[in-house]
Amino acid sequence: MSSRESTSPKSCNSLKPKFPYDLPAPCVDDVLSLRKRYSGYLSGAVAIGPQKYYMQGIYNDYAEALYEFQFRPSDVVVASYPKTGTTWTEELVWLLLNNFDYSQAKTPLDMRFPFLEADCIIDRRVFEFPEVAERMNGEPPPGPFDSLHRARDLPDRRALKTHLPFSLLSPELLRTSKVVYVTRDPRDVAVSFYHHHKIILSHGFSGTIDEFIDDFIEDKVLYSPFWSHVREAWEKRDEPNLLIITYEELKSDLPAVILRIASFLDVSVSDAQLETLTKHLHIDSMRCNPAINPDHDPIVKIDPHEGGFVRKGAVGGWRSSLSETSQAKLEAWMRRNAQGLDQHFGWT
Ligand code: A3P
Repeated sequence: MSSRESTSPKSCNSLKPKFPYDLPAPCVDDVLSLRKRYSGYLSGAVAIGPQKYYMQGIYNDYAEALYEFQFRPSDVVVASYPKTGTTWTEELVWLLLNNFDYSQAKTPLDMRFPFLEADCIIDRRVFEFPEVAERMNGEPPPGPFDSLHRARDLPDRRALKTHLPFSLLSPELLRTSKVVYVTRDPRDVAVSFYHHHKIILSHGFSGTIDEFIDDFIEDKVLYSPFWSHVREAWEKRDEPNLLIITYEELKSDLPAVILRIASFLDVSVSDAQLETLTKHLHIDSMRCNPAINPDHDPIVKIDPHEGGFVRKGAVGGWRSSLSETSQAKLEAWMRRNAQGLDQHFGWT
């Protein structure tokens, strides 16, 4: 049974508010014939809305259900462009919302913190790829994520993750729920996203890092364009239900960011709780936390050269990871697109 049949996303929520954009027919050639670098995108690619957000073709099956998903006043949503420190922020938020329950935090993060659009990021046909099938040791493919259904059935207070930009989510979101939006220097994001594509087999990515940077700059990787994604959040920065944080802030003063998020969520934190949580969120602890790392997932291939799911965790690592050509391209791309946001966030 395909993910489309089994999750019937349209039945998940009421039909309002209505998805406002056309859903273009997926362009299969773009991915499969012309570029060949993303063989996991079996449904091709679509560019959605005025910003032309790049998604796999199967997004079309979920677009309306995602847009119509009903948030609740007690919800906390962690929203981000991928590779900006989402997982780090999720673990932080979940522990604040759940009274620092480190025992319950042993449950895999994606069970505690549903990823709303998971079903349109991993095409289930990738489980038939030889490399993936081999890793399943004869086990049947895991069932659909059914994230929207699971999220709908969760009791309050829900913690929800999305990489979708605000314009592809309900316009009621910020009037209803709290959102922590995390962002990061896009040069580090691009490098991290490249390594992510190498270890997550469902992308079927076979290109080089320079080719990936070209795709990133051309907005031909999932959830791009990066700057539109960040700008949408930035334009809403005065909304009381939105808190914007950066990866760089998490790195430079984690306890301060914990306290800022705690205050945003109306959670009090003692000195002892702060100290324990800071230790729990340290990269060395996150790296070997099985609830965070989907290392045993058949679509995740840990390669010592690429690093694991929690990888280097560095600020400015792009300088030593990219060719001079790719660095120059990214610099020029930032000058063309950042329009002051890079300076505001301290990236340039
Ligand atoms: P790198 O690939 O640059 O190391 P996301 O969760 O949005 O996918 O972001 C992943 C990035 O956050 C990866 O960056 C990962 O290593 C980093 N990360 C995860 N946990 C971290 C932590 N506790 N400290 C620092 N970086 C962390």
